[in-house]
Amino acid sequence: MAKQVLVTAALPYANGSIHLGHLLEAIQTDVYVRARRLMGDDCVFMWADDTHGTPIELRARREGITPEQLIARAWDEHRRDYGDFDIGYDIFHTTHSDETREHAEAIFAAMKAKGDIVSRDVEQLYCPKDAMFLPDRFVKGSCPKCKSPDQYGDSCEVCGSTYAPVELGNPHCSICGTVPELRRSEHLFVPLSRHEAVLRAWLAAPEQGGRTELQPAVRNYVMEWVEGGLRDWDISRDPPYFGFAIPGHPGKFFYVWFDAPVGYIGATQKWCRDVGRDFASYWRDPDRARTELVHVIGKDIVYFHCLFWPAMLQAAGYTTPSRVHVHGWLTVGGEKMSKTRGTFVLARTYLDHLPPDFLRYYFAAKLGATQEDIDLNLDDFVLRCNADLVKKAANLASRCCKFVASRLGGTLGALPDDAQTLVATARARLAEVGGHYLAFESAKALRLAMQIAEDANLYVTEQAPWKLGPDQAERARAVCSVGVWATAVIAAILKPVLPRWAAAVERMLRLPAPLDFANGGAALPSGHVIGDYETLAEPIDPAKVAAIVEASKESTPVSTSAPAPTPAAPPEPLQPETTIDDFAKVDLRVAKVLTAAKVEGADKLLCLQLDLGPLGQRTVFSGIAKSYAPEALVGKHVVVYANLKPRKMRFGTSEGMILAAGASDDAVTVLELDGRSVPGTRIS
Ligand code: 2FM
Ligand code: ZN
Repeated sequence: MAKQVLVTAALPYANGSIHLGHLLEAIQTDVYVRARRLMGDDCVFMWADDTHGTPIELRARREGITPEQLIARAWDEHRRDYGDFDIGYDIFHTTHSDETREHAEAIFAAMKAKGDIVSRDVEQLYCPKDAMFLPDRFVKGSCPKCKSPDQYGDSCEVCGSTYAPVELGNPHCSICGTVPELRRSEHLFVPLSRHEAVLRAWLAAPEQGGRTELQPAVRNYVMEWVEGGLRDWDISRDPPYFGFAIPGHPGKFFYVWFDAPVGYIGATQKWCRDVGRDFASYWRDPDRARTELVHVIGKDIVYFHCLFWPAMLQAAGYTTPSRVHVHGWLTVGGEKMSKTRGTFVLARTYLDHLPPDFLRYYFAAKLGATQEDIDLNLDDFVLRCNADLVKKAANLASRCCKFVASRLGGTLGALPDDAQTLVATARARLAEVGGHYLAFESAKALRLAMQIAEDANLYVTEQAPWKLGPDQAERARAVCSVGVWATAVIAAILKPVLPRWAAAVERMLRLPAPLDFANGGAALPSGHVIGDYETLAEPIDPAKVAAIVEASKESTPVSTSAPAPTPAAPPEPLQPETTIDDFAKVDLRVAKVLTAAKVEGADKLLCLQLDLGPLGQRTVFSGIAKSYAPEALVGKHVVVYANLKPRKMRFGTSEGMILAAGASDDAVTVLELDGRSVPGTRIS
């Protein structure tokens, strides 16, 4: 009996918006799931938001909302973004759910009962002002190796070395700047070395009798950790922490990486309850007799999925992964995505300008089974989509379907003898496609579709049915029928990647059954009548891509459209103490606003021309456009930080900064002096 298949993609963190990097993985997973369903597999895609941890707690405080409100907002946004990219998940749940709590607690209890949980004191950096232990990313200081200042507590962005936060020079809390102190606290650990034999069996290669599908590079990489000695894993955190309290350990919370993957189980539990499926057959199947469990992840989280996770699952009697598929990073133009270059593109920004199909196609046409990084070259993106989808596949369909509909009464004929080689080659290619999709080799599958389109276009062009006279109508019908048939084969191959395209072809050709890889090569009977042509793809206008880049220069990756802060918002913590000498270094002056204007291409900025009396005029760019109409500022006497180093911006150089107060862009009040103040006067 065929096994049921459960697929997951990594759970996006609720602290930020979905960007193209997330979409690379979502599209790869979705294509795999859709292809397996087309092959007749009972395949489900279980997904959720990852919602716990310090960043969520602190961000919610900063915004003056509860963590629950923050994650609810992200959940709506994430589901909308993925849905609009046609990601066909069966459920998009949340780790902050009763179901995930239930299973996190069950796994913990089972491990504790077996002696798999130990406790000991840990010394960590603690910020007395924020009253919290500082996670690695919340401490900054100088790198212990290369001494570069302003590095995070876990690794140096300059020399790449990794270290413990206590090793940083001049450490300070990245929230409030206070020098942290060392404090002790009790933590709970999973001694991973107790699971070494189980992990070695789970990681074993097929030639050693292993049953887990891992890419060879991944298997070797993980085995190196095992060989290097498995360290204890700290699974508890102290408050303030948004997460699940650990039963029996008051004041302790599960570390987010303990319950995040349990979100896969929680989502399945919820879905099973909603649709009436048997949960136990999915997750209580330790021998994997009934279920194949496939995880798709990026290469940064292999450690969690290939060591901690199988150890937890096995210890608690849950199903262990059958396969972990690891993909590479997304680069744009050969470089890491960048906000300044406008290549940190949010899902929504892309969708504001282009339909999802082009990105789905481009990613799938580049993705293979390795962990190689995938580059989105924006020029190549336009060329490739236009060449493949528009000029090859859509053009074939448009030429043949329109000709049959307009000149031949919409009726197809039999496939002619001189096309039999073409037909046989295309059928052989179609037969390979399922294997490629199963191996995460979507690029190979799509290449076959384009080869079929090239062959069919060449055939139709050479036979030129439009040149045949009325007495050769049957020959013209036969030739066009080849193009129409190839359109169906191509649509079957494209279907996991471009479900909308396939649906349009099914409608247009009035196919008797939805396309799949098995029926996609069948010839339609002579006499079959097709419908009107539906546009399958229009060329991408490169200006749209330029507009995405431009808009991305403004968008912030963490924007989850923050509401205005409520009066209950806690005040921002004070900066570290300074002296009057420090203050004397800041030269504040009275300035009169002479002109104010919007800045094209920067929604948040106003360009102000300021009069500083004897000190002359200054141009200052200020991020207050969401709070002030330009004309409302003209004539005001404001406070300018006059000896601030000039800053080059895309629109010009800003020669200072005007002072203002406000917790969000749309609630800013500019500090104003009355008309008696004289421009240029120093403020002290
Ligand atoms: O790396 C991340 O963004 C995590 N939120 C992925 C979690 S995957 C799973 F374990 F939940
Ligand atoms: Zn602090």
